[in-house]
Amino acid sequence: MEFSVKSGNPEKQRSACVVVGILEPRRLTPAAEALDKASEGFISTLLRRGDMEGKRGKTLLMHNLKGVLADRVLLVGCGRERDIGDKEYREIIGSAVTRLDETGTMEASCYLSEITVKGRDLHWKIRHAVESTRHALHRTDTLKSKKDDTRRPLRKLTLMVPRRSELANGEAAVREGQAIADGVAVAKDLGNLPGNVCTPTYLAKQAQALSKKYPKLKVNVLDKAQIEKLGMGAFLSVAKGSVEPPQLITAEYRGGKAKAKPVVLVGKGITFDAGGISLKPAAAMDEMKYDMCGAAGVLGTLVACCELQLPINLTVVVPSCENLPDGAANKPGDIVTSMSGQTIEILNTDAEGRLILCDALSYAERFEPEAVIDVATLTGACVIALGKHASGVMGNHHPLVHDLMNAGKSSGDRAWELPLWDDYQDQLKSNFADIPNIGGREGGAITAGCFLARFTKKYHWAHMDIAGTAWLGGDKKGATGRPVPLLTQYLLDRCTEKR
Ligand code: BES
Ligand code: MN
Ligand code: ZN
Repeated sequence: MEFSVKSGNPEKQRSACVVVGILEPRRLTPAAEALDKASEGFISTLLRRGDMEGKRGKTLLMHNLKGVLADRVLLVGCGRERDIGDKEYREIIGSAVTRLDETGTMEASCYLSEITVKGRDLHWKIRHAVESTRHALHRTDTLKSKKDDTRRPLRKLTLMVPRRSELANGEAAVREGQAIADGVAVAKDLGNLPGNVCTPTYLAKQAQALSKKYPKLKVNVLDKAQIEKLGMGAFLSVAKGSVEPPQLITAEYRGGKAKAKPVVLVGKGITFDAGGISLKPAAAMDEMKYDMCGAAGVLGTLVACCELQLPINLTVVVPSCENLPDGAANKPGDIVTSMSGQTIEILNTDAEGRLILCDALSYAERFEPEAVIDVATLTGACVIALGKHASGVMGNHHPLVHDLMNAGKSSGDRAWELPLWDDYQDQLKSNFADIPNIGGREGGAITAGCFLARFTKKYHWAHMDIAGTAWLGGDKKGATGRPVPLLTQYLLDRCTEKR
């Protein structure tokens, strides 16, 4: 999908379609007004006759409007102007481009970024027009034998800005939007792949393929023997319940100064989580193919960072394996030794995410990080606490947590802090090892964070639980690509802060 930025009058665009907004109740936006004038009141007549109210999500396609150079005009209902926030704006863009795609318009000029969105500027509106368009047109049919192809799909969208002086700003916004959408697409596609395709080895191959594409990226994959040498007893204990070999993937992007400390992103890469011997119930177990969405999210963020060529150093670490029941699998009560030396009593083999993450977090120390952020579909408890709207975030350094929440707000990919108080640490006591891998039912998302906190004392660290946000279930089943927008925004914010 191609985007460009332009300024000019709507009636003068030689385009397959001009897209303008109609507000409720039957109010013309400035671009609609201009088309109305050029067509001697055609649009206002339609509105008066009741063809369109301006309800959000409704569209009306018109052909061969008198006085208008474009072949078509698409009116897009925007609702009441004062009700338009982030979510509404994204919905409006989504309904417009879906309609364009369905009606054989391969190219269009869009004036929707002129509508007022509460608290948002033109840069935000252009960037989110790009992200929302790519989101709405994302296909999930790669494994269908017959693709649900549109005959003449939307290929090019020109985003109109009010003045020539805004062109550069708009173009920068398009670049950001495209990079984030690229990262989101990577995260969605990896997430949606089934466990029999997206194995730990497959994930490692995908990471290696990225280093071919981006010259500033170096990828290193460690196999089981090398992971053993590092002493990652917790990670390996999970992996041994499967015939698929574990992989420890590291990708280093160097866009900053040689000596600048990197941000390290660690992503949970369980390519299928059956629970192990503490087997999960059968209902919706297929969705545990999404248990590598942390890995997909950090790889997607890496792609966005490479596309934007950000002037920072970024390291991504992905421990990847399957969690299956097997003769060799972890048993409840087993005690393993982590890379940090701390021993762990595995009271529930389904709390495997923290077992692979704790070793990856110890490994992260060697990069002398500026900050470490782990991203994981870690607990069902987080879904109960926050639902699917916000990712859970907690950490040992408040400014970092704060920056992540802010990045969530401005990117429309929100996170909410859970309290990582010492009081919760008391729930992690074992009679036989240094620490158990579960802390009881109460505050389950937090005690999972507390477990990880025992391995992150040497650096600034935050943990994001994306169990509720990384994918949707039901008839909308599919990966969301979150938290790529949040993490990319966090990196972008770091770059501007430094300047
Ligand atoms: N991958 C799951 C977490 C999960 C469950 C995410 C459901 C999204 C939906 C994780 O490995 C897990 O099984 N966690 C357990 C931890 C418990 C045993 C302490 C959970 O949340 O039930
Ligand atoms: Mn599990
Ligand atoms: Zn899991």
